Amino acid sequence: MFATWNPDAPPLMDFLGDYAWYLKAFFELFPGGMEVYGGAHQVDIRGNWKIHAENFSGDGYHLQNAHRTMFDLGVMGEQAGAVEGFVVNVPTGHSIRAQYVVDEGTPHIPFGYEEALLAEAGRTLEQEQVKFRQRTSVIHGLVYPNLLLITTAPLYFGEDAKGSTAFTQLRSVTPIDAHHHRVTYWSLVPKDASDEWKAKSYLYSTRQHGAASYFEADDLENFRRIDAALGDQVAGTDPFNYELGEGVATATVPPWKGPGNVVHQDLTEANQRNMVRRYLQQMGTEA
Ligand SMILES: [Fe+2]
Repeated sequence: MFATWNPDAPPLMDFLGDYAWYLKAFFELFPGGMEVYGGAHQVDIRGNWKIHAENFSGDGYHLQNAHRTMFDLGVMGEQAGAVEGFVVNVPTGHSIRAQYVVDEGTPHIPFGYEEALLAEAGRTLEQEQVKFRQRTSVIHGLVYPNLLLITTAPLYFGEDAKGSTAFTQLRSVTPIDAHHHRVTYWSLVPKDASDEWKAKSYLYSTRQHGAASYFEADDLENFRRIDAALGDQVAGTDPFNYELGEGVATATVPPWKGPGNVVHQDLTEANQRNMVRRYLQQMGTEA
């Protein structure tokens, strides 16, 4: 449910534009719908809110470095195979990043859902939206400016939750001041999943991407240090660099066709540039 105090705001679907296609594919994979499981978690974080928003907008390149410890410790478990990634953005600032398993012979493994649910999956979606979800192991994105979403299918996360599963998480980011923001986390599960699966998905969600999770320990520390290093002095005098992937030949061709500006490349700041461009437009200033 979206609301605004702005009497001049455009209708929601105009504001979302081509991005609505991806939101539908993200939230309506299961005809029975999604529901919140486990309530909301809330944390105050040091760092400007835009750092968090940029991270979810399309930051595929930090994974192997910022979360290196998880790979070294074996926390990430067996991966489903080689993956390719790409990013999509639309002019109103929204963006999404997705990575899919290259091997076409790996059906459904990235989903991590129960067979009974998968039989119904995608029934209300277009064929290209189903393809968008089919071999996709991770999707994360930004509904500009401050609603973040992620779904991922970790394969192993400890003795108490064996096997493949998936989780879906929403976050809202609220600025507190220039150096702090508040994040609220919700875990979403398909309404028609079994109670056992919902509990397992929630465990994975909080363990991988919750407030005290493996990923969050790395990411929030990065946000804090970025703020400590750049927040007052450097950011006031030196421009940030957003050139990653600019002018680089594209390589990845996603196995689906969707709207928006599809960038056939994973290691790129195309979505961050898109977000900051929109922000500067609204602030009435130039880069
Ligand atoms: Fe991260």
